[in-house]
Amino acid sequence: MIVLTEWRKLVSGAIIVVIALAGLPLMISAANAAEDDVDIVSITRGGLLYDKWYKVIKAPEPQETHAAWPASNTNKDGATTWRCKSCHGWDMMGNEGAYSSGSYLTGIPGITSMANVPIADIIAILKDDTHGFEGMMDEGDFYDLANFVSNGQIDIDALIERETKSANGDAGQGGAYYGTLCLNCHGVDGDLPKDMGTTLGTLANSNPWEIIQKILNGQPGEQMPAMRAFDVQVSTDILAYLQTLPLDE
Ligand code: HEC
Ligand code: HEC
Repeated sequence: MIVLTEWRKLVSGAIIVVIALAGLPLMISAANAAEDDVDIVSITRGGLLYDKWYKVIKAPEPQETHAAWPASNTNKDGATTWRCKSCHGWDMMGNEGAYSSGSYLTGIPGITSMANVPIADIIAILKDDTHGFEGMMDEGDFYDLANFVSNGQIDIDALIERETKSANGDAGQGGAYYGTLCLNCHGVDGDLPKDMGTTLGTLANSNPWEIIQKILNGQPGEQMPAMRAFDVQVSTDILAYLQTLPLDE
């Protein structure tokens, strides 16, 4: 009997070890999932909101010019002065980036230093007196915007040459992506939807910083795919291909 009891103990001990070992990979992968949970979906939506939040949430377009928009800039007024991108730039570099000149010159700084800053701190900035967004968006919108600012910024100068505006991508590879992802809507010449008026070729060459964001996050209010779940090189390759497409006539 003693022998049998000992044997049983051994077996149940072994079973516990086996169960524990079997559970280990599950536990490890769960832990990884939590660590890697950068929530691409939220960041991408935040990027769309950064582009044109009132279109994304189907809110009425603000009528007044934003209080933080400087009187020195008379090129723009009304709704467009409420877009994050209008003040901070498509490259997030504000007065040190593409908006250091041109029709969006405001002198307003960029937000690159806010990468990896706690989301709650960024949400507080969006609701401060300078921004005044409190009540205009809901908490989920603020979270996604702040998540984009904190976790969605890319090293844009590594992807797009600042002086030449040329994308550091493989246009051949980008052509394959374009053919399978974009062609149905944008056609071989890179235009078509809603009679865009400006070709993707012209847009990609004149404002590549805007277009990489559109590729990563999609187009506000449209059924256009967002490439952010893939390596950023995919988007850069697509941008390189768009730069080879026909320009406006
Ligand atoms: C009308 C112009 C304007 C708009 C639109 C605007 N901002 Fe700002 N933002 C500013 C100004 C000006 C500052 C600097 C405030 C200061 O110095 O106190 C700022 C600062 C910031 C900062 C802090 C930067 C830092 O380094 O301290 C963040 C983050 C930010 N804005 C995010 C956003 C987001 C996200 C949106 C869109 C929801 C947005 N802003 C829309 C004008 C604007
Ligand atoms: C389901 C259709 C659809 C697909 C697929 C699609 N797009 Fe779009 N795209 C649109 C629509 C619609 C617009 C808005 C056009 C307008 O407002 O005139 C647009 C706008 C754009 C814009 C912005 C133009 C602007 O002036 O703001 C860019 C850039 C763009 N698409 C690139 C792409 C790329 C690159 C792909 C493939 C990765 C792609 N699109 C796939 C439908 C699509």
